Amino acid sequence: MTIHRVAGHRGTGGLDGVVAAETALSHVDGENGILIIAGEAVADLAKTSSFEGVTARLWAAASETPITEAEVRAQLGKARERAFARLPQILAAAEGLSLVDGFRAGIAALQAEPGLSPKAAIMGAMPVIVGALARQAKGEAPVKPDATLSHAMDSLRMLHGRAIAPREAAALDAYFVTVSDHGMNASTFAARVVASTQADLFSAVTAAYCALTGPLHGGAPEPVLEMLNAIGSRERIKPWIDAALARGDRLMGFGHRIYRVRDPRADVLKTAIEKLAANHADLPFAADVEAYAREALKRKNPERALDTNVEFFTAILLDALAIPRAAFTPIFATARAAGWTAHAREQQLHGRLLRPQSHYVGPMP
Ligand code: ACO
Repeated sequence: MTIHRVAGHRGTGGLDGVVAAETALSHVDGENGILIIAGEAVADLAKTSSFEGVTARLWAAASETPITEAEVRAQLGKARERAFARLPQILAAAEGLSLVDGFRAGIAALQAEPGLSPKAAIMGAMPVIVGALARQAKGEAPVKPDATLSHAMDSLRMLHGRAIAPREAAALDAYFVTVSDHGMNASTFAARVVASTQADLFSAVTAAYCALTGPLHGGAPEPVLEMLNAIGSRERIKPWIDAALARGDRLMGFGHRIYRVRDPRADVLKTAIEKLAANHADLPFAADVEAYAREALKRKNPERALDTNVEFFTAILLDALAIPRAAFTPIFATARAAGWTAHAREQQLHGRLLRPQSHYVGPMP
């Protein structure tokens, strides 16, 4: 079991409360547990929109140029095919690396494609790369994309190498929509810093992915499953959580810099899991772990509200879709790339070079 401790920090409080950009893309109201993406509350968006639809809204809001869901779907399909044609080059860049690191090398190896926008080229390549790397790890050949399918369905197909049931595709699509964008989170900020130098979109998205991989951000779902496995049974929930908190460990899937109440995305994902597998065996156990963890965190930190975050139910949803744990962060990136590409574009069009200052606390000459 990985132990997650965070060293004491200095000075700026992690830029807490600093407004770093104006954006038309998404809004996080942490006090009230509200997330608005491109003008819609996340729960409504997950009911009414596909991932391609949300991507169209985000891209349109960033560049003030309308684009339809059908156009996004066609562009992403074409981009998946292009990326597949480039796979030998991409896989060579990822050789010998773990899936999470290989994915980083793979997206860093991407380049502009004639007839495709850079944002489509990047987003289309992501599920091709994660599918190929995950299959390669099992000694299996990559699966050719099918441009006629939705991004979610084809992503699963390229991972599993079989036809995907509509309810499986719907669950992944709901996840993609739910995590497509989320205000000025660390990876989006990284994308905007790079884009603010007028560097290209490939560089901005690679930087964003690097920021996502840490366990305090997008790397938490795998440790969430490790935690659920380590707890193992109902009787062990209380002693296990009490001991972890007494040691000073962080409970993965809990706490958030902005939310002071339950992350609104947690319920959207819980509903998606229920629709996917009505009697999902892990769900009641996970709900018990969640309930006790919330109670114990409240007791331990009465002044700092710590509640369930999106990663807790992400872990269960992605596991129920038989996505390998090592692929969780690249799959998160596949969805969040909608936000990253839109934020990078918005920054390039409307922003100024991001260049904060530091306060020197070292010795003087
Ligand atoms: N478990 C136990 N204690 C916690 C947790 C947790 N999950 N999160 C915060 N705390 C405690 C800290 O130890 C600290 O206590 P202290 O003041 O006694 O030292 C206090 O709460 C405040 O913590 P901060 O580090 O200031 O909180 P911050 O806003 O920097 O961190 C974060 C937010 C990184 C998400 C944190 O809650 C955490 O580490 N959670 C676990 C990892 C996780 O779930 N990551 C996914 C986040 S969601 C996403 O990015 C998509």
